[in-house]
Amino acid sequence: TPIPGPPGWPIIGNLRDVDINDTSGICKLIKTPAGPIYKLRLGGDDRIFISSQELVNEVCSRKEFVKIPIGAIKQLQHVTPKGLFTAPHGLKEWEEAHRTLTPAFGPLAVQDMFPEMLDVASQAALRWARAGENNLINVGDDFTRLTLDTIALCAMDTRFNSFYKDDLDPFVEAMLTILKEAQVRSSRPGFVTPFLREANQKFEDAIAYARQVAADVIAKRRADASGTQKKDLVDAMLNRSDPVTGKKLSDNVIIDNMITFLIAGHETTSGLLSFLFYLLMTHPEAYSKLQQEVDTIVGKGPIKVEHLGKLSYVKAALRESLRLHPPAAVWGVSPLLNDDKESEEHIVLANKWAIRQGQTVLVLSPALHRDPTAYGDDVEEFKPERMLDDSFQALPKNCWKPFGNGARICIGSDFAMQEAILATALLFQKFDFRLADPDYKLSVRQTLTLKPQGLFMHAKLRDGID
Ligand code: HEM
Repeated sequence: TPIPGPPGWPIIGNLRDVDINDTSGICKLIKTPAGPIYKLRLGGDDRIFISSQELVNEVCSRKEFVKIPIGAIKQLQHVTPKGLFTAPHGLKEWEEAHRTLTPAFGPLAVQDMFPEMLDVASQAALRWARAGENNLINVGDDFTRLTLDTIALCAMDTRFNSFYKDDLDPFVEAMLTILKEAQVRSSRPGFVTPFLREANQKFEDAIAYARQVAADVIAKRRADASGTQKKDLVDAMLNRSDPVTGKKLSDNVIIDNMITFLIAGHETTSGLLSFLFYLLMTHPEAYSKLQQEVDTIVGKGPIKVEHLGKLSYVKAALRESLRLHPPAAVWGVSPLLNDDKESEEHIVLANKWAIRQGQTVLVLSPALHRDPTAYGDDVEEFKPERMLDDSFQALPKNCWKPFGNGARICIGSDFAMQEAILATALLFQKFDFRLADPDYKLSVRQTLTLKPQGLFMHAKLRDGID
């Protein structure tokens, strides 16, 4: 059966039919009138969008489908060619780094990072407490400060101190330049890039600077013979060996992954916290339940690592926020059927749709997460209850995919969830929150990830909290 999609134009294909940077626009298009599978010709290639649990489950379950870096992720290959996030399928360096680093991101290892996470979340609380209840908090900016400082501290024992200064650290500025250029490049035809010399130079300078900072961190660690180095992710990369080959990672791969963790590990979690706070402020019942749980489990004393596992409603609210507003909204796979790149072989989805070897299939998580066959007719509603452990485990397979799939699933998901549970619990223990503009209507901005745009709030210290 031919995959539906608009006819398109010679050369430019469907470029005029969609805004590739507007995932919600594509979600609407794919839902009506075309259904759960849709084809668009973009950049000279057919891109197939899928959005039903049935199709996503099939794609996630069949081993022929492998990751294909798309959009800004593909552009970031220029920055971190052998980083975990950007590596193409089958790269030897990905396999070695994946095996070496997986234990460093496991639940127990992440628990050891609790003090650093608490340190940074407390800085956010202190800043908001000092600024007073009339202070206008730019939700996205402050959560980006929190998540960037947290990953920098946990990954490479570096403090950006973003809550103490208005100017950005030069490393953060370099990263923002890199992300912005990668995003811009992904949304314009490739042949234009070589002509934009000034932008290209800025991009190259930012990459060189970020790599130099990362190289300096490594050199400092090696020079420090005191034996008191932090047990952070850099330490894991320098000192652990691949359990299969026994080899250690090369400096270039370590640098790629240091930059990768900072890029992949902050925007996403910042988006998650921003959407969660928006949802809670606009759903008073869920807000009270969550705060009550924090009061019962954490009380007024210091939050401890053993509290985190008991905050089941906070965790459910985060899962539900990831369902409605997955910050990494689209991820790509492609069927790999044999090693011949020119192969015309096909794979057939749902006994109906033929997908060619090498063709890009994009999973649209915001649409998948609203499939009524998986979630019922109240898909649009924010209901953390459906994400409490028992109900969550009973959901149909592969209907909740905010962290991607298979071998290429997010390595930082435990890290992100622990960081977000801790920050939410600490902040709700100390503050009451309200929208700065009670009439605020959610608008979503898409860069590498999705974030609420123009979201501001006030934080008032709760009674009995100092
Ligand atoms: C991969 C989402 C937090 C590091 C991914 C992928 C998704 C994702 C969807 C798969 C991308 C693809 O298939 O192309 C998220 C979300 C997060 C989050 C929603 C927060 C709520 C983090 C954090 C870190 C991290 C905190 C690091 C500390 C990575 C890395 C990969 C990845 C390294 C590549 C894994 C591989 O291919 O081996 N993430 N992520 N992420 N994420 Fe995350």
